[in-house]
Amino acid sequence: MKPTRTQVGIVGAGPAGLVLSHLLHREGIESIVLESKSRQYCEERIRAGVLEWGTVDLLNQMGVGERMKREGLVHYGIELRFAGRGHRIDFKDLTGRAITVYGQHEVIKDLIQARLADQGQIVFEAEDVRVQAFDTPRPKIQYALSGNVQEIHCDFIAGCDGFHGVCRPSIPSGILTAYERIYPFGWLGILAEAAPSSEELIYAYHERGFALHSMRSPKITRLYLQCGPEEDLANWPDAKIWSELQRRLAGGKEWKLNEGPILQKGVTGMRSFVVEPMQYGRMFLAGDAAHIVPPTGAKGLNLAVADVRVLARGLKEFYFSGSTALLDRYSEICLRRVWRVQRFSWWMTSLLHRHEGNPFDDRRQLAELDYLTSSRAASQSLAENYVGLPLD
Ligand code: APR
Ligand code: PHB
Repeated sequence: MKPTRTQVGIVGAGPAGLVLSHLLHREGIESIVLESKSRQYCEERIRAGVLEWGTVDLLNQMGVGERMKREGLVHYGIELRFAGRGHRIDFKDLTGRAITVYGQHEVIKDLIQARLADQGQIVFEAEDVRVQAFDTPRPKIQYALSGNVQEIHCDFIAGCDGFHGVCRPSIPSGILTAYERIYPFGWLGILAEAAPSSEELIYAYHERGFALHSMRSPKITRLYLQCGPEEDLANWPDAKIWSELQRRLAGGKEWKLNEGPILQKGVTGMRSFVVEPMQYGRMFLAGDAAHIVPPTGAKGLNLAVADVRVLARGLKEFYFSGSTALLDRYSEICLRRVWRVQRFSWWMTSLLHRHEGNPFDDRRQLAELDYLTSSRAASQSLAENYVGLPLD
């Protein structure tokens, strides 16, 4: 077996790996992406769907924003609903910015198509990926394809393989420090063939638990309910899901939640997680491989993209000038944003979910929501974080 040579070996074809590969290609830097799943699986996996303005800008600059511009839904605000009433947070007025609702799998489709159109190499269904020798100047990645072992020799490895990937666990013990918080609840999410019931997202705080109304297109609604962390879907027949959503999202006589056939349902656990540093030797971790946020602030994809933007700049500097100055600061630069986004995601989660057992929390949360929706300063802080802090 003859090893293949590339400059950057990228593990994982999620948003982090694909955006990185594309950014590098635009600077004339070669990479190979290794992905354990099939192309179809990556393109159909339903994940989050809110893009910050900075993410939208970057995708446009990269030349992969055409379909997003046509099909993405630009939103200038969100609604917070509590005590049976809705309160709009007006992003345009408060920040001059907007967010775009466009499913993560649509972003993935656009990126895969762009990489393949540029003769980019993505190896799907790569088995048993192993990252090696990244504490030397000559890292290697071994994997198997249809049972045949293959090897890639590269200058750097980018670990973009998500929370359950192989890159982070391959770093010797004692190097990384993990910071973690696991929440005592999860989200039951559905995709329904029903027109969205409101033009914007609705985040509802309710005594029965949090609920979220989101969408994917003018015909498809995405909805979530706070549930147990390991809720059994068997306990949730469709009729029960709808009746719970109707109760939690109720918003006065004029508002009606549209129902329709449920196309997909699933339960997600919620955690906040960060490892420091995000690099070891010649391996850099990016996106969910290095950190997880609870989905309440819709930040996971955006944070993954922000990481690889920093990494691509560092690699460009290395290949153009031989300097590792920026690469050496990769963790430091990324972690500043990571922790600010962790703070925001934790805060949105704590604010909007029902915490068992202490009625004090309920009153405190209602007071916070009241403050948030009546103070311009407080609304502006939410809006500024939601649309996305400026990229470094
Ligand atoms: N070998 C190769 N590929 C792997 C391996 C492995 N051992 N393990 C995981 N992968 C792949 C996964 O199949 C997935 O396609 O790595 C990819 C990681 O992608 P994501 O999980 O999407 O992570 P990331 O690119 O960091 O994007 C973060 O995605 O799931 C959301 O909430 C998350 O929005 C956030 C964003
Ligand atoms: C989604 O549309 O899937 C979505 C929207 C907002 C969130 C999380 C998920 O905070």
